[in-house]
Amino acid sequence: MTALQIIVTGANGQLGMEFKALSKSSDHDFTFLSSSDLDISSRSQIIDYFKDHKVDVILNCAAYTKVDLAETKKTKAYDVNANGVKNLLDAMSNQCLMLHYSTDYVYNAELDTAIKETEPTYPSNVYAASKLLGDQHVIQTYKKAIVLRTSWVYSAYGNNFVKTMLRLADKLPEIKVVNDQIGAPTFAKDLASVSMSILNTILSSEDISFFNKVYHYSNSGQISWYDFAKEIFAQADKDILLYPIPTSEYPTPANRPFWSVLDCNLIQETFGIEVLDWKKSLAVCLEKLG
Ligand SMILES: NC(=O)c1ccc[n+]([C@@H]2O[C@H](COP(=O)([O-])OP(=O)(O)OC[C@H]3O[C@@H](n4cnc5c(N)ncnc54)[C@H](OP(=O)(O)O)[C@@H]3O)[C@@H](O)[C@H]2O)c1
Repeated sequence: MTALQIIVTGANGQLGMEFKALSKSSDHDFTFLSSSDLDISSRSQIIDYFKDHKVDVILNCAAYTKVDLAETKKTKAYDVNANGVKNLLDAMSNQCLMLHYSTDYVYNAELDTAIKETEPTYPSNVYAASKLLGDQHVIQTYKKAIVLRTSWVYSAYGNNFVKTMLRLADKLPEIKVVNDQIGAPTFAKDLASVSMSILNTILSSEDISFFNKVYHYSNSGQISWYDFAKEIFAQADKDILLYPIPTSEYPTPANRPFWSVLDCNLIQETFGIEVLDWKKSLAVCLEKLG
């Protein structure tokens, strides 16, 4: 296979950083673009970039992910998560492949079974609505893209629940964590590896039926944030009192779904992806964090 020119937008985020780590053992040529290298909400920057560079694949990790702040920074959220995606799609004009990332928050399912890709969307906050519009741009207007929806992403990089829990454990004697939002965590390293496997499958096949679809990927599990915190403290050997509370006792500006468990069968069947166990992936991340 000839080496491809792969660009990673939002390169300093959790997922972008994991691609950076993975790229060291890849035969492809990666270019990592942070928000200051390439602002996807700037149409002119995107057009200029594509005029000057050959791009075979774009891994779009750029996103406005500040879920609570998005409630008041609505324009910013839409500029990045919806208009930014459209800017990329227009500039790419079906010439390159795109893997785009999205969120479990686009659903607001009142179910007790894992959410399939066919589940109707019902975003309950601005971030989710802006991401959904970005997904719709990808699926409706671009021929060579897939959307990977994931949940509860954490890694050794950036800000996330695991790092917050570890920081709080070193500062506080006790902590309360919500136990009525149920989902599955996703280690960004696993998501990056899965993305590269998918890319290799797509590149080694003429099959175009992979495209224009949404796929789910998370680690396996069905837990609350409280369960997640409990396991983080157990694995990291942190001595802290942990109490479960309902969401009503931890109000946030943005509503979050109570049920976020994603059904990952489609990605497994289509690409032969292995869905890794959430506790094992957490252990890998904690080891990296030292
Ligand atoms: N984190 C989660 O729990 C979670 C859950 C479900 C789905 N997702 C989705 O998974 C994907 C990756 O998430 P992540 O956790 O890696 O997010 P992240 O750590 O917040 O990284 C997002 C990156 O996008 C960059 N960015 C923001 N605005 C930009 C712009 N206008 N142009 C270019 N880059 C811009 C940010 O740069 P600056 O820091 O410089 O702004 C940041 O480096 C996103 O699509 C997200 O919606 C995340």
